[in-house]
Amino acid sequence: MGPTTKVRIAILGSGTGSNAKALCQAARSSESAFSVALVLTTSSAAGMCEVARGENVDLEVIPASVKGEEFSTKLCSLLEQYRIDVLVLAGFMRLVSPKVLTYMSGHVVNIHPALLPEFGGKGMYGLHVHEAVLASGRTETGATVHVVTEQYDEGAVIGQTKVSVLEGDSPASLQKRVKESEHQLYPLAINHYIRENFQDIVGSVPIAGISAVS
Ligand code: GRF
Repeated sequence: MGPTTKVRIAILGSGTGSNAKALCQAARSSESAFSVALVLTTSSAAGMCEVARGENVDLEVIPASVKGEEFSTKLCSLLEQYRIDVLVLAGFMRLVSPKVLTYMSGHVVNIHPALLPEFGGKGMYGLHVHEAVLASGRTETGATVHVVTEQYDEGAVIGQTKVSVLEGDSPASLQKRVKESEHQLYPLAINHYIRENFQDIVGSVPIAGISAVS
């Protein structure tokens, strides 16, 4: 039996939306502790928008020209309007402001395509991450879901998944395999986070698949 009430998440990003799609699909399971109440993006051309329409989830666009304080204010008002419990970043390229973190009581999570704390921080996004992993000669990489702080890619780790680096891997081939692992990890890690932090909403019902989160 799944939880009777679900935690409401918003997914914020400006990329292809593959993680948003995986989250929307996972949310349909009766075992899921969350529902996707909103997809938010800074570009009406982003793949995220197609995903939101295809998954029949409400979509809001805050244009990329809206920055700083104005962006934070707009974001907080949408989070309030849609009664969002957890803000989930998936390909959001900016830092989250203290105003938004405070508004969400710290319930903001992100996914990064490497095993943090390695290969994180400013400039470590997209193919740059996988180029750096290959240049380092590491035989293992992966993905990390973590709580968001005022710095890039810091904050408590919620879950990680490992991916082997194969001989002959290019940054693009590695990115593809890491992304596939992200789609498995993200819903599990969010369910785990919710079970730990929102017992008042979802109760103490065990959530299937959580043992897979290390
Ligand atoms: C993912 O690789 C994620 O780790 C990073 O941004 C990318 C978003 O990809 N933070 P997508 O838009 O979910 O396909």
